[in-house]
Amino acid sequence: MPIDIVAPEERYLDLLKKSLINLLYLENEVRLIYILLSVVAGQPIDIKTIREMEKDDHPILKVLRDRRGEGQIQFIWNYPDGKSGETKSINLRDATEVAHTMIGGKRLDNIHRCLDVIMRDRVPGDVMETGVWRGGAVVFMRGYLAAYNMTDRTVWAADSFAGLPKPATPEDAGYDFSVDVHPILAISLEEVQQLFAKYGLLDEQVQFVKGWFHESLPNVPVKELALLRLDGDLYKSTRDALVNLYHKVVPGGFIIIDDYGDFQPCQKAVDEFRLQNNIREPIERIDWTGVFWRKGDNCSIYPKL
Ligand SMILES: C[S@@+](CC[C@H](N)C(=O)[O-])C[C@H]1O[C@@H](n2cnc3c(N)ncnc32)[C@H](O)[C@@H]1O
Repeated sequence: MPIDIVAPEERYLDLLKKSLINLLYLENEVRLIYILLSVVAGQPIDIKTIREMEKDDHPILKVLRDRRGEGQIQFIWNYPDGKSGETKSINLRDATEVAHTMIGGKRLDNIHRCLDVIMRDRVPGDVMETGVWRGGAVVFMRGYLAAYNMTDRTVWAADSFAGLPKPATPEDAGYDFSVDVHPILAISLEEVQQLFAKYGLLDEQVQFVKGWFHESLPNVPVKELALLRLDGDLYKSTRDALVNLYHKVVPGGFIIIDDYGDFQPCQKAVDEFRLQNNIREPIERIDWTGVFWRKGDNCSIYPKL
């Protein structure tokens, strides 16, 4: 980023994004991974490797940097077992994922650009995410409003704050991400509020909507949305959000789907809903999984990523 041309607001937002995906201290995450891998592989821990992790551009650091940019969260690592010599693998995610959002750099940039367009075109309405996990994406939205002194919009953060529900429809069969299977996905309301507070962004401009989407979203007192971001992974979670909130997105507003490329059930929910409601705006790709479209706009003015 050139030093002389960037406004302070944009400098803040750039720093905020880097902090939310832990890019600023990524080497500390790699130190943790290195120690964990050494222990499971029965290898000695080398202090110099820990100290000079960044200087030596450790191979795990390179991998993690790329993955964090893309929001790739599964982190399977193969290693030679110290005792047997066999190659074993471990998913490091459960032990070492410390970032405040799992959506990665490109999908954070997408929120940033959508908000730029909303501000530029004076698109009315609030902003909302259904499925917030630790809260990083909604923290970014609140940070944007703060940076540009927008006091007339609210950030809505909807989640069970207890992880994903068990699959309840045929479309979601086989996709059990509930707390028993993936405890890392269950983050309490208090933890999310603490995160907002850490960033100095917890105030009445953030509203938390607690509960399963099919129960909480029909009653949420949102009037108009300029941005609706869906990140509930499952068919039912995606459909519940679309059915209850899509009509609240104003013309010129954005609909972002985090899991379209990653989870077939999510894609099915979106494709079905678009077909049933004759939604013709083209879907634009953000990265390997995220997509979005702009309501009432057949030819996006949003520059390609
Ligand atoms: C993939 S995580 C969201 C990631 C998040 N957007 C971020 O920035 O890292 C999915 C979240 O959706 C929530 N969720 C999924 N389906 C839900 C449902 N039907 N009702 C309530 N919460 C749900 C889970 O509790 C979890 O926090």
